[in-house]
Order: sequence, then structure tokens, then C-alpha cells
Amino acid sequence: MKWNSSFAIGIEAIDNQHKKIFEHLLAIENSVAKRDPWHILHFFLAQLAEYMKFHLAVEEALLEVIRYPNRAEHCDSHQRLIDQMAELEDQLKNQASGGNLVGFFESWFIRHVLSGDRDYAAYIKEEFPTLLGKRAA
Ligand SMILES: [Fe+2]
Ligand SMILES: [Fe+2]
Repeated sequence: MKWNSSFAIGIEAIDNQHKKIFEHLLAIENSVAKRDPWHILHFFLAQLAEYMKFHLAVEEALLEVIRYPNRAEHCDSHQRLIDQMAELEDQLKNQASGGNLVGFFESWFIRHVLSGDRDYAAYIKEEFPTLLGKRAA
């Protein structure tokens, strides 16, 4: 699946990272569809995992800096995403075809972006509008 503007949370740097995650997911989907050998699929999965961990660390640092009230809960759901990503890799390793598995992971990720990430974005817009890069005239 490709990123589309309905997934935007309105913070450009974060939206760009989410787009990049969708690019990694698309590479995995294509690799599964082409029935690439495991070492190739594994390479794409490793790239997703690396980028995802970077993205989650950026968000967690941001939430820490702004003292976001729900940050513990948000970080817990990041941990669940990491666990699900590891599970996806395990399942793809053991199955000949895994297109739906990638789709499941994507829907988890989209749900996180549309609920958890949108919530902190709303908090930032409310409490720290200058963080969004909109300069005062
Ligand atoms: Fe995110
Ligand atoms: Fe998040």
C-alpha cells in the first residue's frame, strides 16, 4: 500500500518518516509477490526494522521533550509495533506466501498513525504551535 494524504498528521517531518515507512512496506509487499528468495526478503525486512526503530525513537524523544501526558502509553504501543514487526518476519520466514501478513502489519501501523500519532500531533498544535515551523509574521 502507498502512503496517502489521509494518513497525514500535519507535522511535516513526521509525515515524511511515515511515507518512508510505507515505501519500505511496499518493497516488502513486492518482494513477497515476486516470491523473492528469503535472503532478499530478509534484507527488505531488516531495512524496515531499522527505519522503524529510528522513527519510533524520534517520536519518543519528541514526546519526552514536550512532556506529552500520554507518552508512556504511546511508547507501549511502539513496543507492540516492534513486537509485531518481529512476528511478521518470523511468519514470513515460515510461509511460502505472506501478502496478507504484510497487509495485517500495515493496518496495525496505519491504526497507530491515525490514533496515537494524531493525538500527540493535536497536543503539539494546541500547546506548541511554534514547533510546527509556522513562523509568526
Ligand atoms: Fe509514527
Ligand atoms: Fe507513534
